[in-house]
Amino acid sequence: MDDRIVTAARVDEDAQYEAGLRPRTLDDYIGQDRVRENLHVSITAARQRHEALDHVLLYGPPGLGKTTLAYVIGHELGSTVRATSGPVLERPGDLAAILTNLAERDVLFIDEIHRMSPTIEEILYPALEDYELDIVIGQGPSARSVKVPLQKFTLIGATTRTGLLTSPLRSRFGIVHRLEFYTVADLEEIVGRSARILGVATSGDAAQEIARRSRGTPRIANRLLRRIRDYAQVRADGTITNDVAQAALKLLEVDEHGFDEIDRKLLRTIIDKFGGGPVGINTIAAAISEEKDAIEDIYEPFLIQIGFLDRTPRGRVATSRAYGYFGLEAPGRDSRLW
Ligand code: ADE
Repeated sequence: MDDRIVTAARVDEDAQYEAGLRPRTLDDYIGQDRVRENLHVSITAARQRHEALDHVLLYGPPGLGKTTLAYVIGHELGSTVRATSGPVLERPGDLAAILTNLAERDVLFIDEIHRMSPTIEEILYPALEDYELDIVIGQGPSARSVKVPLQKFTLIGATTRTGLLTSPLRSRFGIVHRLEFYTVADLEEIVGRSARILGVATSGDAAQEIARRSRGTPRIANRLLRRIRDYAQVRADGTITNDVAQAALKLLEVDEHGFDEIDRKLLRTIIDKFGGGPVGINTIAAAISEEKDAIEDIYEPFLIQIGFLDRTPRGRVATSRAYGYFGLEAPGRDSRLW
């Protein structure tokens, strides 16, 4: 089979480093308690019945552990995980090759499942529902359809928002879970665990500071930890104390909320150019030259979660907290009116 098609979903620096930091079991997985408990029940039941686990859809903003959880599920099932992603499945044959190579109770993980083409999606339907492939042989009047049986497998799909999936695809998942932003306490625990794995001494208050600036996202927490470890090694004695963490975060220009340049630009644009809103997402995207999808998937969810941004039927509104962050006075209006 083509290695480019069945491969790790991401092969960037983060993914490689994260591999070592990723928990392998549900017990090692920190946070997302409701999801974890539900999955524990579903997995135990499937194992007891010697059945394939029902298909699972995981959704939520990037970096919250959808891929990690897919591998944890595979591990807990005692199954092999094959990973691919929506955009790399170009031809029907790509998916057919993967499906026919699956063994019984294997897990197929498809990242960014919303980015599969409609033709590929149609191949998936009978595979999910009846564990068979409908292959059309020949063309025109002599074309005929052949059914190829498949082993009973589990599909785990990951996407940022379920609204991006077509409803026939969405309805074929028996287990659907949304991953939430992590609490500071959970992130602190994750930073502590990662620091132990990386072998870098880290004080409790430093771990908490990193957790507070990680936008509720373990991937960001682990990235900051590695950068601060570099700083501690080069500019201090290798230990991450609170002072070292503060100095490193200052150099990295990560502010108290973990905002980056785009967060600030987004909020400032709504405030300065659109009187605080409401303003439509397309207008914002054009004004700050960012992709609408990136704004909706990456930036907005966290800004909404921490109460800096409101999504209303008439558009996005900067809240008084957002004004306060920039040292500005919010216009005297009740946001509930919007
Ligand atoms: N590393 C990244 N995400 C994690 C999580 N949820 N639990 C433990 N370690 C992690």
